[in-house]
Amino acid sequence: MATWHRLGLRDELLARVPFSVTLERHQIAVFLHERRFTAISNICNHKGGPLCEGRVRGEFVMCPWHGWEYSVVTGKGPAGYDEEQVPSFAVEERQDGVYVQTPPVMPRKLVKHKPSHLLETHSKTPGAPPRVLGISTTAMDEANPRFSTSDALLEHAMAMARELQTDTQLIKLRTLKFQHCEGNYSKASHACTWPCAITERDPEDQLSAVYEGLVHWADVVIISTPIRWGNASSLYYKLAERLNCVQNQITIHNNMLIKRKVAGFIITGGQDNIQAVAGGMLTFWSELGFVFPPFPFIAHSRGWDAEDMQNNVRQVKASAALREASRELVERAVDFWKMLDQNRAMMDRPMERAGRKANPLVNPEDAIV
Ligand code: FES
Repeated sequence: MATWHRLGLRDELLARVPFSVTLERHQIAVFLHERRFTAISNICNHKGGPLCEGRVRGEFVMCPWHGWEYSVVTGKGPAGYDEEQVPSFAVEERQDGVYVQTPPVMPRKLVKHKPSHLLETHSKTPGAPPRVLGISTTAMDEANPRFSTSDALLEHAMAMARELQTDTQLIKLRTLKFQHCEGNYSKASHACTWPCAITERDPEDQLSAVYEGLVHWADVVIISTPIRWGNASSLYYKLAERLNCVQNQITIHNNMLIKRKVAGFIITGGQDNIQAVAGGMLTFWSELGFVFPPFPFIAHSRGWDAEDMQNNVRQVKASAALREASRELVERAVDFWKMLDQNRAMMDRPMERAGRKANPLVNPEDAIV
């Protein structure tokens, strides 16, 4: 049955429009367009973003989360996307104030979009060999490459992985064109989505290869980084920020994308701070869901004042011990993965979330009806 709800006096509403109001089960965004109040659902069709917080240009409001647009008059998307519709509500201005009617005059229409391949199930044939993914995060000019100690040790690790008859894949981040994280998480936890909004929007963004590798393909991941001023490489952090969407799935959907996967690290640098870099990496990759073999990283540094970097390179090149350490790291990681694989049921037991980072939160997508 249609019900009219009084929102307030015109002058009062003018002082705070656009705003949202919940009436019965409807979350309604109220706008002012051409001096008239209009009302559409406050919940974006995409992931439930709050439309009343979006930027208004002419007749259209742009969702503050990922930029979908809707007419503030009809609730439809712009030309070409007008099959998409958020509910629109009748509004009347009467002598005693402004009224909005529920239920909506136009209901929500959700267009089915082709789901990203990252959402598909990628099953692995039982008994297939372990899969080892190497990720190099050092930056350099590919056209004029230099010797990288972290890359060299990663290469030794990958050679060992091949000797162990695993399937291998090596990704050098510097060869991928990918954008910086846009920080949707800073708008709202639910604005950081899986797949990443950049990946969904931009077919040119090449981080899909890493997402595919980490989430669907690999059993074991070995990440290598140089130390740059006491930190991991800039490309490492660029990657880490784009992986927030993987961790965030645990928070917002209790969806662990990384399960029974093992990570190990190779950290090299002319100067020191290995413990801090390793500590940061262990924390981050554990929050993604990775687990670690005994002694999960190998590292090399000659100390704070070792500025003769050419000798650093010579030393790593000549070091049989570091070569062997890289090989043993991958061997430990693969052995550990085999143990996990044999104990799947135990690893898949539900875990208590209290005290962990990923606290459950109310999900606005549940309100998309
Ligand atoms: S564009 Fe609105 S939630 Fe993504």
